[in-house]
Amino acid sequence: MTGTAVGGNSRPSYPRPEGVHPPLAYPSYTSTALRAPRRPLVVLPQNLTEVSGPVFGAERVGECDNDLTRQHAGEPVGQRIVVHGRVLDGSGAAVPDTLLEVWQANAGGRYRHPVDQWPTPLDPNCSGAGRTFSDADGRYSFTTVKPGAYPWKKHHNAWRPAHITSRCSGWRSCSDWSARCTFPRTRSSPTTRS
Ligand SMILES: [Fe+2]
Repeated sequence: MTGTAVGGNSRPSYPRPEGVHPPLAYPSYTSTALRAPRRPLVVLPQNLTEVSGPVFGAERVGECDNDLTRQHAGEPVGQRIVVHGRVLDGSGAAVPDTLLEVWQANAGGRYRHPVDQWPTPLDPNCSGAGRTFSDADGRYSFTTVKPGAYPWKKHHNAWRPAHITSRCSGWRSCSDWSARCTFPRTRSSPTTRS
């Protein structure tokens, strides 16, 4: 996000780089029919309400919250991995103190949620949820296990590639966004198409 000052308020802009992202509305990806905006976006000025709070205290994050392999009595089943990166703003500057929350399926591709009835076993040592803060350089890190792909019934033999979803909450109520880290298909994975 970048911004310009208008009448004493910071007016943000959200440049969308050309050729980097897929179109918001993509007929073959049927979910976009309900998600994609049908009208141009309206950019609102940032007033006091938007630039103050929510403020998350570091005490809200526990010692094992960013290590999903140490949250239970034993280690979860699966390939242990470290997911790390940096939180940057639209100009490439580090954004510290951003709360990052992640959630994922277990190594068999099942979420710990009553709606998920995919018949792979639940792992008693995998809750699939974690949180941490970005440091002064915008860096963050999670230790976890690689999630499995799972069927999502979009079409015949449709499998959603293994992925970890994250939500980032910054200093400002308007600086919330979510992202998804998708793992490339491997030789042992089922056919993927999304
Ligand atoms: Fe998912």
